This record gives sequence, C-alpha cells and structure tokens, in this order.
Amino acid sequence: MNIIRFTVLIIVKFLIKLFTLRKQKNEQLPEYTKEDVAKHEKDLWIVIDNDIYCLLLMKNHSGGLEILQKFAGKNVTRLFYEIHLNGKQNKQLLDQKYRIGKISSYNNNERQECKYYLKNHLVYNDMTKYNEIETPDEENDVETSINIKQQFRDYIFCKNFPCINGRIAFKRNSYGIGVYGKLACKKATNQLWKDILNFINKQSDLWKQGHMFTTYVACFKTPIFLTELMFEDLLWKQLQMLHEIDVTNGFEWDKDYANDSMDADFGFSLGRRSFFIVGLHPNSSRKARRFIMPVIVFNSHHQFRNLKETNMFTKVQTTVRNYDLNHNGSINPNVLSNSTDSVAFEYSGKKIEPGWIPKFTAVQRKEV
Ligand SMILES: *[C@@H]1O[C@H](CO)[C@@H](O)[C@H](O)[C@H]1NC(C)=O
Ligand SMILES: *[C@@H]1O[C@H](CO)[C@@H](O)[C@H](O)[C@H]1NC(C)=O
Ligand SMILES: *[C@@H]1O[C@H](CO)[C@@H](O)[C@H](O)[C@H]1NC(C)=O
Ligand SMILES: *[C@@H]1O[C@H](CO)[C@@H](O)[C@H](O)[C@H]1NC(C)=O
Ligand SMILES: *[C@@H]1O[C@H](CO)[C@@H](O)[C@H](O)[C@H]1NC(C)=O
Ligand SMILES: *[C@@H]1O[C@H](CO)[C@@H](O)[C@H](O)[C@H]1NC(C)=O
Repeated sequence: MNIIRFTVLIIVKFLIKLFTLRKQKNEQLPEYTKEDVAKHEKDLWIVIDNDIYCLLLMKNHSGGLEILQKFAGKNVTRLFYEIHLNGKQNKQLLDQKYRIGKISSYNNNERQECKYYLKNHLVYNDMTKYNEIETPDEENDVETSINIKQQFRDYIFCKNFPCINGRIAFKRNSYGIGVYGKLACKKATNQLWKDILNFINKQSDLWKQGHMFTTYVACFKTPIFLTELMFEDLLWKQLQMLHEIDVTNGFEWDKDYANDSMDADFGFSLGRRSFFIVGLHPNSSRKARRFIMPVIVFNSHHQFRNLKETNMFTKVQTTVRNYDLNHNGSINPNVLSNSTDSVAFEYSGKKIEPGWIPKFTAVQRKEV
C-alpha cells in the first residue's frame, strides 16, 4: 500500500515539475516586434495570434511551400484559422516544434529605450526595498534626456493617443517637459517642484495669449519594471512629497478646488494652481496609459472647467471614450460617470477597488 502511495506521489511531483517547466519555457520566449517578423520573411517567420513561428524546417506542409513563402513575415491568424479546420490543435503542434517567440507589446523604438534600462531589471513591487534603488543622474545625461523628450512627443502624436487636450498642448507648444531620475525621491522632487513653479509663470502668459490647453510632463528614468499597484503607491507618494515642498514654501491650496482627495471638487494643487494628474507607466493595464517609463502629466485643471462651460467637455469625453473602446475593448472604468466621485480615482489609471482611498493628506501650513 505504502509503495503505491509513494509511487503516485513521485509521479505527481514529476508531472507538476514538468508542467511548471513548460510554463517557464513559454514565459521565457524571446519577444519580437511585428517589424522584426517582417524582416525575417526569408526565414519563413509567421505570426498566429501573438505567437511567432519559424517554418523554415517544416517539410511537409499540406498546402505546399509556396503558400508559406507567400505569407512569410506576416500575421496569418485569420487565414490560418479559416483554412485549418482544427486550428487550435494544429497550433498546438506548431507550438511544440516551430514556435520561436512572441510579439512584444512595445514597438521597435520603445524596445531600444527599454534595453538601455535593462540594468534595472528587477520588478519593483515592494516599497520597503524602494530606497535601495540607485538614483540615476538626471543632469549629466543630456543626450538621453533629449531622446526621452522626443519619444514622448512621438507618443503624443501617434494616432492612438487618446488625450486630445494633451495633443493640442503639444501642437501649440503650450507645454513643458522634464526628465527626472527616480520617481518619488527627494532629489527629483525638489527639481520637479521648481520646474512646475516656472511652468506656472509660462502658463499665465499662455493663458493671456488664449492657449487654454497647457500641460507639464515629468518623465522618470526609474523604475521601469514595476507593478501597477507599486506605480499607484509611488504616484501618490510623489504627489504628497511635492505638496509638502509647496507648503514649506508658503503656498496655499488653489482656492477653487478642494484639498480633500475624496471630495468631488478635488484638484491637486501646486503654486496655488490646480492640476489634473495623469499617470503613465510601462505596466499599465490600460493600453493608452503605457509609456516606456513612468510619467506624470500635470494637466491644467482649469482647462477642464473651461471645457465644461463651453460644452466641449462632452465632445472631448466621447472622443476619449470611443478611443478606449476601440483600443482597449472597454471604457476606462474610472472615467467619471458619477459627479460625486473624486477625480483622484482617475490619476493612476489603475482600476480602483470599492472603498479605495488615495494615500494623500493635505498638510496645514505653519503660520509664521
Ligand atoms: C494578428 O491578427 C489577429 C486577427 O486578425 C489579431 O487578433 C492579432 O492581434 C494579430 N496579431 C498581431 C501581433 O498583430
Ligand atoms: C508533418 O510531420 C510531422 C512529423 O515530422 C507530423 O507530426 C505532422 O503531423 C505532419 N504534418 C502533416 C500536415 O502531414
Ligand atoms: C507587471 O506587473 C505584474 C503584476 O501585476 C508583474 O508580475 C510583472 O512582472 C510586471 N512586469 C514588468 C515588466 O514590470
Ligand atoms: C483594458 O483595460 C482593462 C482594465 O481596465 C484590462 O484588464 C485589460 O487587460 C485591457 N485590455 C487591453 C487590450 O489592454
Ligand atoms: C454616485 O456615488 C454616490 C456615492 O459614492 C452614490 O451614492 C450614488 O448612488 C452614485 N450615483 C450613481 C448614478 O451611480
Ligand atoms: C482644507 O480645506 C478646508 C476647507 O477649505 C480647510 O478648512 C482646511 O484647513 C484645509 N486643510 C489643509 C490641511 O489645508
């Protein structure tokens, strides 16, 4: 009896090990972009769903070699399932013999940037270890900064970018952009606060010239690999740190907006001016919120009030929602449908759970 039990146990253990090994193998497949696949036409690379196969060694394709050559370098998903009656089974056979990789969620340019940061390849999901991450130098690396700014501009202008307010600000040159070291660290925060205060002066001039759409973009070089939850934590930590410097420098909260992050009239304030915050990062579940590094966008909040007054708000909102529907398959669940909700729910882009409260507390200014 004991021997049978023992044997069964061994077999089960072996199966589990086999299963996890296979799973690991799948996860470790290299990633390529569609452009990479197109370049390997001669090697008979094809894409089915999001998997990449090299069919060079396939000798017995029932449809002949010509058809493989004809569609090499392409996404053949639709054709494959149309032609092969047992598509799913056929694909499993292909998986075993010919699968060489999967499609990367980044395009070629983005991937190059990511390679540059691979030294940070450790997924941050633990705030207690966060202080140990080295802070990259922001000033001494001018070339990278220029590169990052250019990438962000390209990203804004790519046809998939949903936020049209942002795009208008970039088109009309009514924006500011800065590259910082590490998200939510002291050094970056000091610099960012100064930059935003400078931007506020520029913003006043822009308003006088009739440019209502203004925005300041802060890109952070690190961390690149982080979970959505970690990004949310860091975003609010960063806002809290900025707010505390603001208070230390004697600024009050923008009097047109509430300082309680759960209040429907909340607006994050710096230099007595309110901003609507949009967080982007590589691991966002919303496609529209993915960029190669963490970014905090400080949209002038006044522009939204202005929009509401001119009825343009609904138009903009519909455009953004339609985009999300097409691009992500669903409307951003946090986009305010309920006017009693706080805008703070939308900041990080992460789907919020019932009862979620932003980790932010306005601090009292000390009277001197
Ligand atoms: C390939 O095409 C299919 C169906 O047209 C689509 O679902 C899939 O996302 C495409 N894959 C890539 C990597 O574009
Ligand atoms: C091609 O050969 C492999 C074995 O090398 C076999 O598993 C597969 O079923 C064959 N495919 C066709 C379409 O005959
Ligand atoms: C993205 O987040 C998930 C958990 O939500 C984590 O398992 C994964 O490693 C993260 N990826 C990167 C590239 O940081
Ligand atoms: C769309 O967004 C939801 C979260 O709101 C996410 O779970 C889902 O994976 C996203 N889909 C795509 C295709 O990005
Ligand atoms: C809006 O939210 C409030 C409180 O969170 C709730 O009482 C109310 O029913 C909601 N209204 C709608 C239309 O969902
Ligand atoms: C927040 O705003 C309320 C109402 O304007 C005010 O009474 C309170 O002092 C403010 N709190 C802080 C910490 O500034």
